[in-house]
Amino acid sequence: MLESIDKLAVEVFGERLEVATRYAELLTCEGIEWGLLGPRETDRIWDRHLLNSVCISPYVNRDSLVADIGSGAGLPGIPLAIARPDLQVVLVEPMERRVKFLDLCIRDLGLQDSVQVVRCRGEEYRPKAGVDVVTCRALSSVEKLVGMVEPLLNRAEVLAIKGDRASLEVEEAQDYLAKKSLTAEVIRSEVGGSLLGTVLRITKA
Ligand SMILES: C[S@@+](CC[C@H](N)C(=O)[O-])C[C@H]1O[C@@H](n2cnc3c(N)ncnc32)[C@H](O)[C@@H]1O
Repeated sequence: MLESIDKLAVEVFGERLEVATRYAELLTCEGIEWGLLGPRETDRIWDRHLLNSVCISPYVNRDSLVADIGSGAGLPGIPLAIARPDLQVVLVEPMERRVKFLDLCIRDLGLQDSVQVVRCRGEEYRPKAGVDVVTCRALSSVEKLVGMVEPLLNRAEVLAIKGDRASLEVEEAQDYLAKKSLTAEVIRSEVGGSLLGTVLRITKA
């Protein structure tokens, strides 16, 4: 790990750094073997994946129930659950191989008390308890995402991790969001002056 990334990882994961390190190992070993991540991701597993995932953490209230839609290999849901043991996190993922990997991670990392996996599409997800926050990364456009999780938005807000095009995406979706009485805000999430990621927060107006 680069020294600067090392410092950020300590700051973000604190005493749970060992668990985060084990998850990084699972991603770069089984995750790559099972074809869930490209082999080139090994060198950037911390900054591009683990640290980027926790950029949403400051915007999630204590003890929230989080639904991570299209979790894939567990991003951002698993790093968030590691950094924030106060949260309950549900990983919603339709693909069998990815669900198997998520189950493996939960067992291996000892996250059984705070993380569950539900195998279904976001559109089909009907939680048993009230979801407070919907998270996602690399899932879909703003409009598709809102359509997918609309029944949850009366109570929950969306925190979507986005890239450089976040503001443009919001601009493009402005009419649609207004029609649905939703507001969107783009937030640059930093720790100690380093940018962890860009968060798109969508809430009911
Ligand atoms: C590009 S991957 C991103 C995975 C992960 N969020 C990440 O950032 O690495 C998109 C994921 O969304 C899942 N997915 C696709 N359509 C979905 C839907 N309608 N509902 C929930 N998940 C979906 C895919 O199976 C895949 O795991």
